[in-house]
Formats: sequence, structure tokens, C-alpha cells
Amino acid sequence: MGQNERVTFGSKLGVILATVGSAVGLGNIWRFPYMLGENGGAAFLLVYFICILILGLPVMLTEFFIGRHTHRNAAGAFKAMVPGTKWSLIGYNGVLAAFLILGFYCVIAGWTLEYIWQSVTGGMHGKGADQFKLEFETFSTGVVRPIAWTILFLGLTHVIIVSGVKNGIERASKVMMPLLFLIMAVLCIRSVTLDNAAEGLAFLFKPDFTKLDSSVILSGMGQAFFSLSIGMGCLITYSSYFNKQTNLQTTALQVTVLDTLVAVLAGVMIFPAVFSFGIAPTAGPELVFITLPNVFGQLPFGSLWSFIFFVLLGLAALTSTISLHEVATAYVHEEHHMSRGKAALLVSLGVLILGTISSLSFGVLKTYTVMGLTFFDLLDYVTAKIMLPLGGMMICVFVGLRVDRKILKAELTNEGTIPFYFFNTYAFFMKYIAPIAIGVIFLNELGLIKWMKGFF
Ligand code: PFF
Repeated sequence: MGQNERVTFGSKLGVILATVGSAVGLGNIWRFPYMLGENGGAAFLLVYFICILILGLPVMLTEFFIGRHTHRNAAGAFKAMVPGTKWSLIGYNGVLAAFLILGFYCVIAGWTLEYIWQSVTGGMHGKGADQFKLEFETFSTGVVRPIAWTILFLGLTHVIIVSGVKNGIERASKVMMPLLFLIMAVLCIRSVTLDNAAEGLAFLFKPDFTKLDSSVILSGMGQAFFSLSIGMGCLITYSSYFNKQTNLQTTALQVTVLDTLVAVLAGVMIFPAVFSFGIAPTAGPELVFITLPNVFGQLPFGSLWSFIFFVLLGLAALTSTISLHEVATAYVHEEHHMSRGKAALLVSLGVLILGTISSLSFGVLKTYTVMGLTFFDLLDYVTAKIMLPLGGMMICVFVGLRVDRKILKAELTNEGTIPFYFFNTYAFFMKYIAPIAIGVIFLNELGLIKWMKGFF
């Protein structure tokens, strides 16, 4: 497809909703609470906030610049800006990351379908915390059921992707965001009025700085990148569909604020309940799936609440899987001159294989590990903690080194028609602070800083 024939999102609201739809997903409601639980609580929250502010926002804006400036997919954008150079490796890193993330993300997305099913058929009342845990473990370590749900979820994503950007992505995103906020607010109220809620809130909001170490910092940074969908060209791809009137600055700010708000709401919804029902905050990926049924069990019409919640969570996951799929599909379609349908099919089949192995790694393949990580954990670790921050760092280095400031400013101010009061601050953070901070966190986690200290 030539540059001028490219579709754009239909409305201002569509732009925001589709981008928020990509950012808000399982990362906020499933991954954030379990990462926070595994990384010692509020100290992690603080690191996460700082990373959102000083790394997330600048990287997001920079991705918006690249995408709308070139109107290309993640890899094509670099080819268009600096043809014949190695910079397009940043785009390939992103396309690969999208593919790998989808390989574990659609498994958890599939779990939401199981819980929708259970809400309709099973009922939530009369079961204790232990029983919810046991039922979850039986399900997630099984073979057929979780894989079947994974395939179904991937199928849904596939259908929306082949029906195109405007009809699929934008329309799907417009429906569910306000509803999701509403139901999360209700669940937060129920959770904070449970016995022992104060302990959960303290865990979430009162930092214990003795818990801060390099792995908490790397986890916080990885979570910030994962949650904002940055560092892998997803937002390059989406902003390539923005039109010339889109205000990139306010879009970045709105997406960041909404995404962070949903994560904090998820924390308030989960942790009081975790402490109230005596669940270990370090439970890992199953945390949300064993905690929430307990909360629903405490509500009148619990199954109905559960049904609505998991439908919304499933939809939030869907708008994110769509964005991940789109990164890979747009790349194959545009760079390898394959029809959109064929490109999507190729991506879906690849993800199907990864998803099947990821799902089995909770059960029969649990003992097959690399560096102590199951296949599922490995995909998560490599993408969130390595590929996304590295991608984000290189995006900043690229724009800092290779893009004329005037061009950057013109794009971010819509050719001077809107002001950008903090342009110099942004440019400073993007060019120096973000790449250096990400680099230092990496070196520290790899143990290289300790090793270098040995020389002094
Ligand atoms: N941001 C999504 C979430 O929080 O669930 C996950 C995600 C989507 C990550 C798209 C990366 C991406 F490119």
C-alpha cells in the first residue's frame, strides 16, 4: 500500500481510545498487581511512577513523532527516515517483541474467557479461598481447556485484524473503556471495605525502601514499558494512522494518565482483598485470578459481577492483542508485499505455536526451564525486561542523533500550530536522561556496575 492510500483513524476520540486500548490491558490489571506483589509492594510502585514520568512519556512522544512523520510500520519507518542503515534493526526488534509478547499474552487472555464461562455456568458463592485456588490450578495446568481458550482468543484477534484498522480496531476500542472504569471503581469500593483492607493498602502505598534493589528497578522499568505499549514500535504503528490534526502531546499525556490510573485502580482492587483473604501477594501470574473470585463471592449477584468484569477484562486484552498483532501484520504486509489477509494468517499461525507452548508451560512443560524460567516466564522476561527497554533506548538515541530538532519540533507542534512549552525539557530527557537511565539500569542488573567498581 502506498503512503497516500494509508487509512487513518476516523476521529479524535478514536485516536485516543485505540491508543488507550492498546495501553490498557492485562498489563495493568493482571501483570501490574502480580509484579508489585513479587517486588515488595509500594517501593515498586514508586519506581514504576518515576519510570512512567521520566522514561515513558518521552519515549511515547518520540514514537508518535516517528510514526506520524513517516506513516509507516515499525520497521519501514526507520527505512524511510534513514534508508540503507542499521537503524531499522530497532523496528525489527519491535516486530519480534510484538510477536513474542502475543505468544504469552493470548494465554492469559484465554484465561479471561474461562472465567467468563465459569461465571455463566458455575456460580461464585459458597466457595472458600482454598477452593478458588485449587480450581484455578487444576484449570491452568491442564492441557485442552487453556489451549482451546487461547486459540479462541487468537481467532477473535485475527478476525478483527483482517477486517481492517477503522472498522476493527477503532470500533472495538470505543465500546468498553468507560465501562471498565466504572466496574473497577465498584470493585475497589468492595475491596477497601473488606476486613484487613488497611494492610493491603499499606502494602500498596507505603514504601519500604529496604526492598529496593536492582531487580525491583528493572522490573518497574519493564512494567512501565509493557504497560504503555512502548519500546517496540506499537505506538509507531498506531501513530502512523494518526492524521495531521492529531495533537501528539495531549494524546501522549492522556494515554499515560489513563493507563497509570487503571493500574493504580487495579492495585486498590486487588491488594486489600489479597490480605483480607490470606492470599500470598507473591503468588505470581495467578494472583488476580485467585483473588478476584473471592471478591465476587462476597458481593450480592457475585456471578453477574464476575461475568461483567471478565468480559471487560477480555475486551481490554483484545484491544491490546489487536495492537500487538497489528505491529507484526503491518510489517509483513507492507515490507514483504503480502496481502493483509495472508500476512495476518502467517502471524496468527506463528503465535498459535508460541501460545500453545506457553500454555503448556504452566503444566506438563513446567519443568522445562531456561535459567530457571519456564517458557512463559522466559517470553515475558526477554520482552518486558530486555527488548522493550532496549528498543525504547535506541528509539531515543536514534531521534537524538539523527533527527534535526526543527523537524522534530515541527511534527510535535503540528507545524507550529500548537505550542509545546516543554519542548527543551522533553528533548533533553529524550536525548540524554532516557537512554542513560535505561543503560545504567541494564548494566546494574547484569552486574556490570559492581564488576566495574572492582577496578576503582
Ligand atoms: N500495554 C498492554 C497491556 O498493558 O496490557 C500490552 C502491550 C500491548 C504491550 C502492546 C506492548 C504492546 F506493544
